Amino acid sequence: MLVLGIESSCDDTAAAVVEDGFLVRSSIVSSQDSIHGRYGGVVPELASRRHIEMIIPVVEEALRGAGVEIKAIDGIAVTRGPGLVGSILVGLSFAKGVSYAKGIPFTGVNHILAHTHAAFLKEEGSEDGSPEFPFVSLVVSGGHTALLLFTGYTQYRMLGQCLDDAAGEAFDKTAKLLGLGYPGGAAIDRLSRSGDPGSIEFTRPFIAKGNLNFSFSGIKTAVLNHIKGAGELDRKSINDLSASFQEAVVDVLVQKALWAAEETDSETIVVSGGVACNSRLRARLKDAGVQKGIKVFIPPPRFCSDNAATVAALGYHQLKNREFADLDLNAIPTWRGF
Ligand code: KG4
Ligand code: ZN
Repeated sequence: MLVLGIESSCDDTAAAVVEDGFLVRSSIVSSQDSIHGRYGGVVPELASRRHIEMIIPVVEEALRGAGVEIKAIDGIAVTRGPGLVGSILVGLSFAKGVSYAKGIPFTGVNHILAHTHAAFLKEEGSEDGSPEFPFVSLVVSGGHTALLLFTGYTQYRMLGQCLDDAAGEAFDKTAKLLGLGYPGGAAIDRLSRSGDPGSIEFTRPFIAKGNLNFSFSGIKTAVLNHIKGAGELDRKSINDLSASFQEAVVDVLVQKALWAAEETDSETIVVSGGVACNSRLRARLKDAGVQKGIKVFIPPPRFCSDNAATVAALGYHQLKNREFADLDLNAIPTWRGF
């Protein structure tokens, strides 16, 4: 079964063709970083307009990459939230149009749950196994930080989520304070490699022992106060500050993922979302997994950050469950309590 995935919830226009919920036949992502970079964050109206320009060429390229025509597609999966409403509506309206015109069923997908399905994706020749249920899923992106327990492809329970800034947002805001551009998560990761993570002792926002919610806005304020107090920062100070900030965030993410696994008796942890590209988080989680006897699945970076292959992978299972959408399906920009 071939599913066409469509993703446009933030600032990436993406389309993918995935076979049977795991085999990636093509995955195309058109990033808008160069448009929003100069504003220091995503400008919603510019994002929607760019999605409108890119949606058709990106979908055409995904079909071409998979070597199929639209008539070979068995189902369409499209992100319906959470995200920016104008952006979501571009992908959603496009999916409805194709579904109606070509008589292909479609389903609306939750972007955060879709991130988790990165762990099931395979490409021709890839040999790694897939996570077994039940597993804990840590989704860490620019807009969301969440811990979920997955007991099946579409069965899950929310264990914790962010109460204020998401982890990626904290990375981006810290990068902005340091003049590293937007989005700055990858720049902090890079500079941290030459910095001392123990040079500044930022407090770790655990909220309470065993608590699985997240709160990263305090770290960002601590960084701001540190910068104000430090005056002009030289290269070494920026590297040290980056590494110390990153270590504090990574400490919290690793500890809470382990608490979640312990609380739910899970032997597997899956990590996804753009922040799962972070080299320190990847290394620390792998080490923790070895120490605690927990299997840790961290997909390759191209499937961690926003893409449509994850949307197609989750959508495949929804379509198999006959969760078909009607043409009146609406966007859910703020998707609480899912
Ligand atoms: O999942 P994603 O592509 O989009 C959202 O759904 O938000 O995540 C984007 C986020 C941004 O905040 C970006 O700075 C962060 O992921 N990110 C990183 C790294 N690469 C991307 N954060 C830390 N280290 C990285 N290497
Ligand atoms: Zn995302």
